[in-house]
Amino acid sequence: MNRKRIMALLGATVLAVSALTGCGGGREGAANAPAAQEAAVEESTEVATQDAAAQSETPATATEAAGSGFEAGATIGVSLPWLGTQNWKEAETMFKEQLEAAGYVPIIQAADQKVPQQQQQIESMIENGAKVIVVGPIDGTQLGSVLEQAKDAGIYVIGYDRLLENTTGVDGVVQFGSVKTGELQAQALLDGLKEVKGEGPYNIELFGGGPADPNAPNFFKGAMSVLQPLIDDGTLTVVSGQTDFTQCATVDWDNAKAQARMDSLLSGFYSDKDIHGVLSPNDGIARAIITSCENAGQQIPVVSGLDAENESVEWVWSGRQYSTVAKPTDALVAQTIEIINSLRDGKGMPATDVTADNGVKEVAIYELPPVVVTKANAKEVFANDPSRLELLK
Ligand code: BGC
Repeated sequence: MNRKRIMALLGATVLAVSALTGCGGGREGAANAPAAQEAAVEESTEVATQDAAAQSETPATATEAAGSGFEAGATIGVSLPWLGTQNWKEAETMFKEQLEAAGYVPIIQAADQKVPQQQQQIESMIENGAKVIVVGPIDGTQLGSVLEQAKDAGIYVIGYDRLLENTTGVDGVVQFGSVKTGELQAQALLDGLKEVKGEGPYNIELFGGGPADPNAPNFFKGAMSVLQPLIDDGTLTVVSGQTDFTQCATVDWDNAKAQARMDSLLSGFYSDKDIHGVLSPNDGIARAIITSCENAGQQIPVVSGLDAENESVEWVWSGRQYSTVAKPTDALVAQTIEIINSLRDGKGMPATDVTADNGVKEVAIYELPPVVVTKANAKEVFANDPSRLELLK
């Protein structure tokens, strides 16, 4: 991935988001204050667009004291939760490419949704002399002691895409706004219902992601902030009555479990009713929901998604899935490497005004903006992403 393309992509993402802020509702995310978060988007973009070598000032609000840095060819560990969705496979490839291009020696491992395996992989990164360990946790709360062990060994720990909870062993987290993602999913669901199904009221069902993943309740919370008022005024009917995150969550983000739940919702509640829309937390689950509806002989409902996975980009283009949300992996990886470069150069963690309470400390958050994608704006969103643009035919 060349640097110019990453920066063009980031620029396009930020532009697209500023165009959307008028209709997207309040920003919240893991952050404390909406205004601070806006600032952080600008700031994190700036971090990503500056040449690390040109960053000479010590950031005023750096959350960690600048250390002495480390050598240019240092070992960097990357611990991913699984490779079950396209974004994590992309992260595996892009971390390797971008870390090597920046002169580092990467150790990249994925843990197949098994917490003990992820703990062991991180332990071995510590033993192998990693200077920074980047972690996308399977379970946000289960890595406390191994991350504290890393910290004691003088290693920096950066959360990637997901918050690291209940541990002091974290220096910062790079991610896309998670509550904002849920707001975009719900708004797209409403827009799609109006566009595809005409005037309401509408019958809908709700799905959440894996309950151990700290993003999943945030996605759901953001979505419900948009949907709840319309459930309350009767525009939307959740026919099953299942509106709590715990009832709607999909253990391990497992598409087959989501499909089984949709099958039973349809047979239990929709034998004499049409389903008009479904909130889905990501693309894999969206395709499982759509497949279940097709198998049950329902007209395809309006379904939201996340990740802009290739298959779903094709489905959005053909009208089978209404929307997805793009969170470009290359931009998130580039942001992470800018932070690693700052640590290498002895400048500490870059400044950010956004923090999240992880249960035991306020963690610095470096946040990028997610962008909703429908057939109407797909060409624009993917203008700088040739492989996805290629799918829009
Ligand atoms: C990520 C999504 C992904 C999901 C399942 C979430 O934490 O933000 O991009 O689809 O995990 O892997």
